[in-house]
Amino acid sequence: MTDRHVDAETPAWLWRSGEMVPWNEALIHVNAVGHASAAAIFEGIRAYRSADGRSLLLFRLEDHLRRLLDSARICRLDLGHDRDELAAAVISVLRANGYRDDAYVRPWAFAKGFVKEQMVPADSLCEVVVDSWPFSSELAAPDGCRAAVSSWTRISEASMPPRVKAFSNYHNGRLAAMEARLNGHDHPILLNERHKVSEGPGACVALVRAGRVITPSLSSGVLESVTRDTVLHLLSEVMDMPVEEREVDRTELYLADEIFFMGTAWEILPITWIDGLRVGSGSPGPVAQRLREIYSQVVRGETAHYRHWLTEVPTTGDEK
Ligand SMILES: Cc1ncc(COP(=O)(O)O)c(C=O)c1O
Repeated sequence: MTDRHVDAETPAWLWRSGEMVPWNEALIHVNAVGHASAAAIFEGIRAYRSADGRSLLLFRLEDHLRRLLDSARICRLDLGHDRDELAAAVISVLRANGYRDDAYVRPWAFAKGFVKEQMVPADSLCEVVVDSWPFSSELAAPDGCRAAVSSWTRISEASMPPRVKAFSNYHNGRLAAMEARLNGHDHPILLNERHKVSEGPGACVALVRAGRVITPSLSSGVLESVTRDTVLHLLSEVMDMPVEEREVDRTELYLADEIFFMGTAWEILPITWIDGLRVGSGSPGPVAQRLREIYSQVVRGETAHYRHWLTEVPTTGDEK
């Protein structure tokens, strides 16, 4: 394999339907774009540099790939690769690109072939792609973010199930994100069709009130987030804190001592302002701070108890 970096942020290789392909040659015909936008599904997975610097640690790879297969099942797409093959592809992409520091891996799939009509037949064969890029952690960042409840309603199980990680679902989150930015906030929180709290455009949400952590239930119009599941484990198993998964009212956000986002990309991100109201002291609160510390130790392989969540990819040898 030759080195074909386009620029410092662009990897040399991605994995496409069974082979390593130079990143800048992984093109699709313009005719196929219609398919890609209708039912394309994806995953976002982080690989963290281990605390000893000797390997990259893919965080909950199996769980992300399981969710990719779940999304494929709901969308009736046939990936043509099982979980083991996809895991091997993810690892080979990390190796081929020679990453030694934190990286993000994005497997995605879209119906194969030219488009004569917009609707994709059931059980369609897919192209599967595994892409990646460098992506450093923000877990040690000192500040929280400003959030606002969006005027846009979260997509629903009745039309576009939020449980599916489909690119097209992100049109909803994007509209909300743009509105939030235009109004001077960092991120939106969307309410569902029952006017209950659902999630942000790229992360689930939780609040702390009177010593309890409360997060919208999985039927509130949210993605079945791997980070949310991780945080719930850490809260009950390490921090010994009670957790409630249930419908959440908008005004509970206003009375919360702490609020935070949780997701692979945003990790654990404290919310310090909600709809112009200060949350707690206006600085990241103790629960979110402690979670960030524990999470950071877990993803970098410093906590023996959670090693089973990590897939180790050594970085000391010849990566390719
Ligand atoms: C809409 C949405 N909700 C929640 C999440 C968090 O999911 P996870 O923790 O599995 O990354 C994401 C992240 O991809 C997301 O896009």
